[in-house]
Amino acid sequence: MEKFTSVPNKKGPDDFMVAKLLGEDEESTVVLAQDVSSGKYYAIKILDQEKLSQEDKLSQVKKEQHVISRLEHPFFVKLHYTFEDEKRLYFVLSYAKNGELLSYIEANTYLPLECAKFYSAEIVLALEYLYGMHIIHRDLKPENILLTDDMHIQITDFGTAKLPPENRTNSERTTSFVGTAEYVPPELLTTKRSCASSDLWALGCIVYQMLTGKTPFHDDSEYFVFQKIVSRDFKCPPAMNEDAQDLIGKLLVVDPDDRLGSARQGGFDRLKAHPFFRGINWQNLHKETPPMMH
Ligand code: ADE
Repeated sequence: MEKFTSVPNKKGPDDFMVAKLLGEDEESTVVLAQDVSSGKYYAIKILDQEKLSQEDKLSQVKKEQHVISRLEHPFFVKLHYTFEDEKRLYFVLSYAKNGELLSYIEANTYLPLECAKFYSAEIVLALEYLYGMHIIHRDLKPENILLTDDMHIQITDFGTAKLPPENRTNSERTTSFVGTAEYVPPELLTTKRSCASSDLWALGCIVYQMLTGKTPFHDDSEYFVFQKIVSRDFKCPPAMNEDAQDLIGKLLVVDPDDRLGSARQGGFDRLKAHPFFRGINWQNLHKETPPMMH
């Protein structure tokens, strides 16, 4: 009798045709691939099983899978399928056709005010959703903010996210993790702990970067970057929009409980009411046409 080796609806590597390489790092390769049966395109993140066991990265990968699979919001990459073979793990993710927000900042030197305002607002909504899920991203930066074909954000890379305590494994109860130097909040450097408001610090860095092309705390040496962060040593260019300067000043606050958007500062409602966001249609942002960027 013929043996059935595949289950209907269960996808495998053979169901996809690889179109091109999208990105690569030490741990993973991301390719653009087409589902042969539907014609739809996906970004498939491929991880080498052997490398994962050698470097004990498996728990991080499992966590990333767990976090992304819980997210149901237009501003996050969606996990459509997962499967594995003897050698590799595969995560089939939605394809954000227009790539990283960083490329747009760099191509424009800095973003026009209306664009910076619009994308800041989308990030705020994404963070509000994460806050409701008790998830901290911990590595929010313009490389991890992708853009879809209609130019809305899709946040990715939850490999270093922090989950609510009940969903955490014993091995990760203490924090030794530090994200990308320039976006690291001071509490992680001084107390080795991140908290619900840690992503709001990164938001402050990203708003600054969109408007100036540079991160607020930069230096050739990571040591000096960290020094600048803990002493809040940054300056907004005097020509920067005043509402933006005020917002950045209220996000880049050393005490996480004093950051605009934190529970003690009135939560996301107060953040969304900041004058920088005047005119933003919070209810339907993901359906609006984003302002033009080049
Ligand atoms: N690079 C990494 N992940 C991606 C995604 N989901 N879409 C497009 N490019 C990517």
